[in-house]
Amino acid sequence: METILVTGGAGFIGANFVLKARQQKWAETINLDKLTYAGNLQTLAELGGDPDYHFVQGDIGNAELVTYLLKKYQPQAIVNFAAESHVDRSIASPDEFIQTNVVGTFQLLEASRFYWQSLSPQKREEFRFLHVSTDEVYGSLDSADPAFTEQTPYAPNSPYAASKAAADHLVRAYHHTYGLPTLTTNCSNNYGPYQFPEKLIPLTILNALEGKPLPIYGDGQNVRDWLYVEDHCDAIYLVLLQGQVGQTYNIGGESERANLEVVETICEIVDRLAPKPNFRHSSLITFIKDRPGHDRRYAINCHKLKQELGWQPKENFQTGLQKTVEWYLSHSEWVDRVRTGAYKDWIEQNYSGR
Ligand code: NAD
Ligand code: TYD
Repeated sequence: METILVTGGAGFIGANFVLKARQQKWAETINLDKLTYAGNLQTLAELGGDPDYHFVQGDIGNAELVTYLLKKYQPQAIVNFAAESHVDRSIASPDEFIQTNVVGTFQLLEASRFYWQSLSPQKREEFRFLHVSTDEVYGSLDSADPAFTEQTPYAPNSPYAASKAAADHLVRAYHHTYGLPTLTTNCSNNYGPYQFPEKLIPLTILNALEGKPLPIYGDGQNVRDWLYVEDHCDAIYLVLLQGQVGQTYNIGGESERANLEVVETICEIVDRLAPKPNFRHSSLITFIKDRPGHDRRYAINCHKLKQELGWQPKENFQTGLQKTVEWYLSHSEWVDRVRTGAYKDWIEQNYSGR
């Protein structure tokens, strides 16, 4: 693959993917990102002098801009990470989720379709549109239910999950109707370096380091499957190269944990790496009012990806979490810069009076 267009490459997972794509010389990389509150060019600063990396600030919903970029760079693949991604924000204000995740993906698909149709037969054969989605489209599981497979019916419960489900259906339809060579990946909760501290794991790490309360929604027994971001990026690249066109692949970390256990494990790691005399960080745990419509359990069956493409996660939850805490401890400058006024406003909005 010579050239790829990545969207949302200044966000958490997208930036990890772009950094790896350039470090491993996977391809010349164009990064189209709107730079919302979640986009951060500081994460990509090391690519400043790289002639095969190009950043463009813009919206995936701007079909004119996307068409221009596709003509100019002639990529063999598009990897669509761009999205509004935080469930709590989708509950507070869903509009942007519909605009970017649904309408934006639609516009991106339209521009991609016209570009793909203009290519030579051989280039059409080679082209891929990879759409990054979530396990949340499958809804919520009870404790004894089997994990989500690629055949599990969609049952999204939050505005975020519904917007991602709509996008997944559009991607499916563009393959079925127009023959666009699409691939869809549905992954579980990611964690690792450069995650914006509105999500559970970085929020807990940073609050623990600062001696602030560690907020746990409801009874803390909601279960998520945790996937280390680098394992996720490797899986995406593998699907891009070897996935079967039109197919969906589930990606999971094989690490199901209740939220309370996640937070307690972080506390133990922080106790070791940043000890305070006579103090256990777990004493900061605070149970607060639950999220409305909070899905009880997600679990991913990633047998298909392992069996068909030979993927295997390299990190288990303990090793991945240890690396993540170490990363946040050694990147205080990155952390300080992302926690701006807008971040403080969100923390106030989501947690005060709860
Ligand atoms: P993120 O919120 O950290 O980053 C999203 C990026 O998209 C930001 O850089 C933002 O500026 C950009 N963006 C938003 N709207 C845009 C638009 N209209 N046009 C162009 N760029 C835009 O998200 P993330 O955690 O990196 O997630 C990436 C993808 O993976 C998303 O599609 C998300 O739904 C999916 N996903 C994430 C997780 C997770 O645990 N983080 C789990 C499952 C699936
Ligand atoms: P989050 O990181 O927001 O991801 P998602 O909602 O997409 O799974 O939350 C992970 C889990 O942690 C989820 O069950 C909600 C819970 N949670 C808390 O208990 N406290 C918090 O402050 C946050 C942000 C999340």
